[in-house]
Amino acid sequence: MTHRIKSFEDYQTLYDRSVADPEGFWAEQASTFQWRKTWDRVLDWNFEGPDVKWFVGGKLNITENCLDRHLETRGDQVAILWEPNDPTESPISYTYRELYHAVCRMANVLKSRGIQKGDRVCLYMPMVPELAIAVLACARVGAIHSVVFAGFSSKALADRINDATCKMVICSDGNFRGSKVIPVKDIVDEALKTCPTIETNLVLKRTGQEVAWHADQDVWLHEAYQGVSDECPAEEMDAEDMLFILYTSGSTGKPKGVVHTCGGYMVYTEFSFKNVFQYDEGDVYWCTADIGWITGHSYIVYGPLLAGATTMMFEGVPTYPDAGRFWQICEKHKVNQFYTAPTAIRALEAKGLEYVKPYDLGSLKVLGSVGEPINEEAWHWYDDNIGAKGLPIVDTWWQTETGGIMISPLAGITPLKPCHATLPLPGIQPVIVDAEGNEVEGNDVEGLLCVKFPWPSMLRTTYGDHERCKNVYFSAFPGKYFTGDGVRRDEVGNYRIIGRVDDVINVSGHRIGTAEVENAIDEHPNVVESAVVGYPHDIKGQGIYAYIICQQHPSDMETLRAEILSIVTKVIGPIAKPDKIQLVNGLPKTRSGKIMRRILRKIADGTSDKLGDTSTLLDPSVVDEIRDGVLI
Ligand code: WTA
Repeated sequence: MTHRIKSFEDYQTLYDRSVADPEGFWAEQASTFQWRKTWDRVLDWNFEGPDVKWFVGGKLNITENCLDRHLETRGDQVAILWEPNDPTESPISYTYRELYHAVCRMANVLKSRGIQKGDRVCLYMPMVPELAIAVLACARVGAIHSVVFAGFSSKALADRINDATCKMVICSDGNFRGSKVIPVKDIVDEALKTCPTIETNLVLKRTGQEVAWHADQDVWLHEAYQGVSDECPAEEMDAEDMLFILYTSGSTGKPKGVVHTCGGYMVYTEFSFKNVFQYDEGDVYWCTADIGWITGHSYIVYGPLLAGATTMMFEGVPTYPDAGRFWQICEKHKVNQFYTAPTAIRALEAKGLEYVKPYDLGSLKVLGSVGEPINEEAWHWYDDNIGAKGLPIVDTWWQTETGGIMISPLAGITPLKPCHATLPLPGIQPVIVDAEGNEVEGNDVEGLLCVKFPWPSMLRTTYGDHERCKNVYFSAFPGKYFTGDGVRRDEVGNYRIIGRVDDVINVSGHRIGTAEVENAIDEHPNVVESAVVGYPHDIKGQGIYAYIICQQHPSDMETLRAEILSIVTKVIGPIAKPDKIQLVNGLPKTRSGKIMRRILRKIADGTSDKLGDTSTLLDPSVVDEIRDGVLI
């Protein structure tokens, strides 16, 4: 097991060592895992390529570290504890031994359907144990998983399948989500009409609803399991072989496939999991994220299982059957570490304390937050009502691209400051730069957040387009990884993340590119042009505000609004639906034709009295018109 930090002095010593001798430090952590062959060199890197390799020449399989190596010591301990959507349905648990066999069985099914090392497999599934099992089964046979959040539309799913030229998709018949039943297979069927590389669609029976059947490619998972062995030797992987692709939004319309590799990701997710959450033997750890996002990859599946933890998975939503569900589950399963998103905290806060009071939250030891800046009010509500003012809150800053938590308190060790992610983990070297790229030193400063030295779980490329990886992350400030976030460092060196500085909106902790939403809206036959910005939203953190120009004046605003929402749902998914839509005659553009979003953002958040200089606009009068306009 990697080093478990026990005190603040220990953290400081370790941090200093990780900066003075990163290779020695990470070699020591990595040596606690099971490798088929040890690495030849700890690190090769340059950020110009970028070309970053950790544990060069090392051979391993991450699932041997998540499963096999625990069998002797904790074979009968619960690995995954699953709580269904419907509280009257029974929870299911898998011990490490049961999980090992389940993963081997699924791995054998993948192999029997022609999946080999290096093939891409798309997972589009509800939050059921089979999703975690499928993730691990891919890793076991050396296939690259690409999990797509099951709230994305068939079009978004097809784009992701095609970008990665996946050979197989694994889905379910349906998905129980709160009071709704989502027709997962119908969505996949629609997507597969335009996905020529898919050979097999493996379907888990979850809801039992009727589904259309295409015998040439559809296979029921329970039928595929028949006669399959529950032992499956793990494929030997190079430390730098791809482990997975995960798509995320950026400033352009096309989502990018962030690539993570086996060795470094393994070492960093285990190390960060244990130290941030201070997980103790026997604890029940619960992260409420969906495995469709990076948080679920790193801190529901890989990090906890690598550390031999009991990790809980929840199928449902926080408000079903009522807004007390999270707290009811914490009481029922005696949860010790609880990790959620600010948007969930705000939504539950709005429902009132009567949903919290009935439950005994005495088992909780650590609270966590992730995905977006947590505001002062939500932080205190969490602290007062869930933590009874006595628990550490770890505000963890990180990204899909960073693979693991980068800046965060270590629970009970790092002095807390509300709404601050506080200090970098060992091995992480953040720097603040100004717009010209000069390093801003000292404390009580603000700027753009970069990282100046590689860490093991950083992205290696964007799938199929290395240039894009270079341009987006490594070109703005040569020699540094640029996060896209603005940040403040306080008087004593604590970091506070301010939010995105690019054209990415963070809606309920989910990243959505403004260009993606604009492209979707522009598909409406009557829309000539649109511009989308984020604005502060009480529950979601940021809401989506769309300005649209129509070709012909719409006769019925209600219909137009409904049509636009439906197009966005169809092209991206319901998470990207605009909250506000305003019809305008023109957009504020510079003489070179660039939309000045700064102005649109100010109008959207109601601070249009502070517009600043608008003299560079082609037609400054559009601003007044937009400001006086009304929503449809
Ligand atoms: C934001 C989620 C403030 C940030 C793990 C980042 C945060 C983006 C925090 C990444 C936090 C994440 N405080 N902002 N604790 N955590 N963010 O890729 O803007 O879905 O760049 O990864 O979320 O989102 P992603």
